[in-house]
Amino acid sequence: MATTQPTYRPLRLAVLISGAGSTLANLIERIRDGRLRGAEIVLVISSRGAVRGVEIARQAGLPVKIVRPIDFADEQAFSEAITTAVDQAEAHLVLMAGFMRYWRLPPRWQGRVLNIHPALLPRFGGRGMYGQHVHAAVLAAGERESGCTVHLVDLQYDHGPIVAQRRVPVLPGDTPDTLAERVQAAERELYPEVVQTVVERGLEWLGAK
Ligand code: GAR
Repeated sequence: MATTQPTYRPLRLAVLISGAGSTLANLIERIRDGRLRGAEIVLVISSRGAVRGVEIARQAGLPVKIVRPIDFADEQAFSEAITTAVDQAEAHLVLMAGFMRYWRLPPRWQGRVLNIHPALLPRFGGRGMYGQHVHAAVLAAGERESGCTVHLVDLQYDHGPIVAQRRVPVLPGDTPDTLAERVQAAERELYPEVVQTVVERGLEWLGAK
């Protein structure tokens, strides 16, 4: 007897970017080659117009919205534009991927927005702690290890509940660049793994973390 396919609804992702888009490129690649299953990117929002991440999104045929702070009267109006865009896209989950702006997300989005940060939070986070600044600070502090953190986004920078972390060693002779490379390799594994777990266990899993 023929069995019916279970009804299957992909997890709809909106990805927020500001720059190079390497995190976005990795997600696109993994969805394409099937390493990340059951998720689709329904919208990419960039806080800057002329960045590589926008090109990557367009080349992949994804809908892109440029939402630049400069086009809005204040942070609240900018935040509302982001909220409207993710609402209209009917996203289930928002992934910050090198997004360098503050989004004052409304309560209904809290618990459904993730960020990846290139250090072991709660250390080496907060305003101004992004990209190479983070790796330089880790080296200056003489740390023996670093890593990356996926966390839920709340109203404070790099602050919400930690969902997952991956550690990497800091090696003798490391520069911010060599350390960044090692951390980013860990990021490329960790972020899709977290999304895959949300696909499998549902958004409730994030709340339970
Ligand atoms: C990643 O290393 C990510 O952890 C970092 O930006 C890089 C991604 O940029 N994010 C932060 O520092 C956020 N505080 P890209 O995806 O634009 O290449």
